Amino acid sequence: MTPRSLALPLLTAALVLAAPFSAKAMQSSTTQSPYGKLPDGTPIEQYTLTNESGVTLKVITYGAIITELRVPDRSGAFGDIVLGFDKLEPYETKSPYFGAAIGRVGNRIARGRFTLDGKTYSLAINNAPNHLHGGLRGFDKVVWKAEAAKGPNGAPGVTFRYTSADGEEGYPGTLSVTMTYVLTNANELVLHYQATTDKDTPVNLTNHSYFNLSGRGDILGHVLRLAASRFTPVDDTLIPTGAIAPVAGTPMDFMEGKPIGRDLGRLANKPQGYDHNFVLDSGGGHLALAASVYDPASGRALDLLTDQPGVQFYSGNFLDGTLTGKYGVVYQQHDAFCLETQHFPDSVNHPNFPSTILHPGQVYRSTTIYRFSVR
Ligand code: GLA
Repeated sequence: MTPRSLALPLLTAALVLAAPFSAKAMQSSTTQSPYGKLPDGTPIEQYTLTNESGVTLKVITYGAIITELRVPDRSGAFGDIVLGFDKLEPYETKSPYFGAAIGRVGNRIARGRFTLDGKTYSLAINNAPNHLHGGLRGFDKVVWKAEAAKGPNGAPGVTFRYTSADGEEGYPGTLSVTMTYVLTNANELVLHYQATTDKDTPVNLTNHSYFNLSGRGDILGHVLRLAASRFTPVDDTLIPTGAIAPVAGTPMDFMEGKPIGRDLGRLANKPQGYDHNFVLDSGGGHLALAASVYDPASGRALDLLTDQPGVQFYSGNFLDGTLTGKYGVVYQQHDAFCLETQHFPDSVNHPNFPSTILHPGQVYRSTTIYRFSVR
């Protein structure tokens, strides 16, 4: 055999050998780049996490907002499956919490009032007549300190830190919060929350990502299963009545899985859609499967695991065509769903709900996992 005729089989063998490796040998990484500046000149940074299969998460130090999440569909094509903007300014001025960290207390506190240790606190009424998602300048609107982190097996991650001053947004106690976002090589986004306080205070941290597993269009055909046989009915200002009611026989029943749009027309609230806290059958306290979502169009699936006792399922009811997001897409009603893992809304005013009070000396810890796959 001449050297030349030997070269081709060798090259072919090298390519065959290389192929399976090149498919998965992508280096995972965390990189940092400038994202923009606040009006007072404060620089905002963006962290880009990429795992070994090429799944990408982008998150900024303003509000620890997830601005982009790219996962493959069943044909392997990557698509961005979260709503958001392509620059900083709309996140500051008009975002309905797209992708943001939510705190100190996620969801509503009735009339912005609660009594703790004999003292009554008055919070901002930013969702009349109630207090919503931590107030006028909640954790979605503060600048977090960030640094690159590593998760298990070297998975790319970022750690965010913020100290909420005693009295900030009317809440008692200095709250020191650390959140770690990790993108594992099993295509999971793991959000871990930790907090300590120097006075008794309510704490209920979550993330407000708006998902659309097709990337665009409405989510009414997405099939949702919720591991919740009960929910917390609300009044017409979305405050729980205090009851914990069975979902059976109501449009709230997602136990067996059904398209989000199937029973949505039977809901009485305006704007119509789901905006309810589901009481997870796990009871909270340990990681358990809370929800599964499957998009038959793209084949993308999301499993949601949490150690929280509840999840707010919100079907993007307030999106109304007035916001233009990334890629010039105009967001219409029901173009996304949120699954906000949490303690129940208005828990501070409902002694029968699991307590949200954190005491000095205790550590608040919570983990939520978004596991992506295809079918
Ligand atoms: C949560 C609330 C909703 C709405 C959205 C943001 O899901 O429960 O009522 O405020 O946030 O628009």
